[in-house]
Amino acid sequence: LPRNIYRDRPNSSGLEFGHRAQLRQLCEGMAGADTLVAAKPLIPSVKVHGGSVDVRAPAEPGRVVGTISQARVADVEAAMKAARKGFERWSRMPADERGAVLGTAGDRLEAERDRFMALLSLEAGKTLDDGIAEVREAVDFCRYYGHQAELLFSEPRLMPGPTGEENRYGWRGRGVFACISPWNFPLAIFLGQVTAALAAGNAVIAKPAEQTPLVAHEAIKLLHACGVPEDVLIYLPGDGEIGAALVSHPHIDGVAFTGSTATARAINRTLAAKDGPIVPLVAETGGLNAMIVDATALPEQVTDDVIMSAFRSAGQRCSALRILFLQEDVADRVLEMIEGATRELHLGLPQNPDTDVGPIIDEGQRSMLAAHIEDMKRTQTVRFSGNPPDEGTFFAPHIVELDKASALREEVFGPVLHVVRWAAGTLDRVLDDIDASGYGLTLGVHTRIESRVAKVIDRLDTGNVYVNRNTIGAVVGTQPFGGSGLSGTGFKAGGPHYLYRYAQEQVVSVNT
Ligand code: SER
Repeated sequence: LPRNIYRDRPNSSGLEFGHRAQLRQLCEGMAGADTLVAAKPLIPSVKVHGGSVDVRAPAEPGRVVGTISQARVADVEAAMKAARKGFERWSRMPADERGAVLGTAGDRLEAERDRFMALLSLEAGKTLDDGIAEVREAVDFCRYYGHQAELLFSEPRLMPGPTGEENRYGWRGRGVFACISPWNFPLAIFLGQVTAALAAGNAVIAKPAEQTPLVAHEAIKLLHACGVPEDVLIYLPGDGEIGAALVSHPHIDGVAFTGSTATARAINRTLAAKDGPIVPLVAETGGLNAMIVDATALPEQVTDDVIMSAFRSAGQRCSALRILFLQEDVADRVLEMIEGATRELHLGLPQNPDTDVGPIIDEGQRSMLAAHIEDMKRTQTVRFSGNPPDEGTFFAPHIVELDKASALREEVFGPVLHVVRWAAGTLDRVLDDIDASGYGLTLGVHTRIESRVAKVIDRLDTGNVYVNRNTIGAVVGTQPFGGSGLSGTGFKAGGPHYLYRYAQEQVVSVNT
């Protein structure tokens, strides 16, 4: 590998970000930073835009972080026209040169980390720890996919064949990719999709989540400054109507989408019905993620890992723990420890170093969580509910005990931990329950019985299984991430095969 960070320091961009003193310094820098961003669509030849609206910090409704001027549906056509031209040049650029551009972007992002952390904190409500982790992940995506481009796509491979014939097997970009990304990782997932598509030789039209257009705008400008031409990478902020217009365009050659399973299905239907080429969809969707804890597990370790998995990032991760299956024999003791630790969590402004749980992204999501708890109160036991701050879209961590796993069938995207007890000798029923959800993104197993781990892995095809640890924070190049079933199409992001989904094969057979 050109840089050995993946072997030695897989999750590090070279800095000891975890240092408390440095965190404080970053935080002070952020308080005075000029973070105001005026974002608008970045489409060559389109200079006129609609009116701009304020983007406010979810934790501080009075605070304007920047402004966004949304793209209009008519802009999709202009974006497509430009991107098709861009594709002609970009796809012909040698793969190692494309990779080098992405590597430079990773370096630049690392150098500008304070500004990006500030934006993540203000616009997306990320705590400092979450902001650090997200910038690292974004840097790692740039470097990893940059390197993968060189590794996978540089030279055509000579295939075996008869004398007098040369068979060259190679890869090329598919064309124009639509990248549609979520608000919960507005930098890392946004750049993960975009850099993968670029690495494979595509032009990209990137539509960020409506809630988080600013950090995405700055990431696109950074890529432009590092050498990705403006017609190769187009920024198209907008609502669902823009997304629908983009996906249904006859000249789209591929779609990368991260978000809900329902939206992924809708995109799939649109792609199936439209004219033009048959278009691949790379979808990473949700999960009804479980953790199985048996009586041999270490209660302190379980407590730490449950708190981290369920409540870090205010539970707004697709990898977050939603249902904890606790063996009856230890359930009361472990639940008491988890409740005690949950009580200690500090909710507050995300940019404060002592905040553990920041805000929910917007009022719509917050009221969905409140409605879920009201619904649970009718038939299940709400064991713990904290108090949120008065200002901002906060929702305190909740713990709900279910009488059976089937009482929860849908992903609840926030800091709500559901608990189900299981009796010794009924592990098979627990596995059936997990399987019955249809999702397969992350799974935690806490046990000291090795054969039990083997049995769980054998029975379930969950994409990412974590044994005796928390279930979040997959590391690029180390824990390729993505699920099965209702959780996504694969291949795994940050893994050795992901770029293949964005490219197409070509074989040239020459009679020599
Ligand atoms: N990749 C993230 C994680 O592993 C989830 O989106 O937590």
